[in-house]
Amino acid sequence: MSNPFDLADTAAYAAWREQKLDSAPRRIEDIVVALDDPRALTAGERAALLERCATANMAIYTSNTAGDADKEIPRGLGRQLGLAHLDSHWLTDDDAISPISVRGAEERGERKEFIPYTDKPIKWHTDGYYNIPERTVRGMVLHCVQSAASGGENQLLDHEIAYILLRDENPDFIRALSRDDAMTIPPRLDETGVARAAQPGPVFSVDADGFLHMRYTARSISIEWRADAATQAAVAALAKLLATPTPWTLHGRLEPGMGLACNNVLHDRSGFTETPQKRRLLYRARYHERVTPFPV
Ligand SMILES: [Fe+2]
Repeated sequence: MSNPFDLADTAAYAAWREQKLDSAPRRIEDIVVALDDPRALTAGERAALLERCATANMAIYTSNTAGDADKEIPRGLGRQLGLAHLDSHWLTDDDAISPISVRGAEERGERKEFIPYTDKPIKWHTDGYYNIPERTVRGMVLHCVQSAASGGENQLLDHEIAYILLRDENPDFIRALSRDDAMTIPPRLDETGVARAAQPGPVFSVDADGFLHMRYTARSISIEWRADAATQAAVAALAKLLATPTPWTLHGRLEPGMGLACNNVLHDRSGFTETPQKRRLLYRARYHERVTPFPV
């Protein structure tokens, strides 16, 4: 079977690459779908979301739910897009949907040190890069209940586009970043010992269904890259690629009632400022599967 992600199969790659670049959106408007209520999609709304996710690995939605903090909005939307298994995490609420807010961190105390729960910028990453392979995050819904007074924008880049740009520059970059020990998350220690074991893994991998998965963070602390020259060169090339917007890098800000449904694409977040009336609150749901046409 032909596999575009096999470095030896240049014909399959060329065909897939051409098709991908022909259809890849270059404007954020191209991935925006207007919904009424994400909890109850019409057939047309659902088809439009699935089409964007199939083409670009992501869709942005608007909806008429501004002001509604119901967690069923992201959860119900996910179910209709085939997203079934929520990734539970030691920082998520019991229902595995995380409220991402600064205030939440203050209330809980323990979250303060984690950048997602601050107003600071977050560098390029895919979600769950520190997870064990059995808990790989392939799908995600990010729903905005309230945006900040200013800032809090996202850049988005389909990881398949990042793969193409890197492979076109030098296939050796892909080879190095596909090694099982390319990127290691050091163990996390707490007062009782090792709270999480060291987590080595590839940046690029292909799942059982032939889809490309990317595991990455541009953070330089708490990351150990393989020390050889090939890995170091590949990591530098990827960081350089992400440092400047590509023609396919999408940019925007989620406003109340809006959200992102995606196959865990590359994204970042700018810093933001809040006022008492405009405190940023997003719900984040991470899933072990990709968006599929089969609702659960
Ligand atoms: Fe993220």
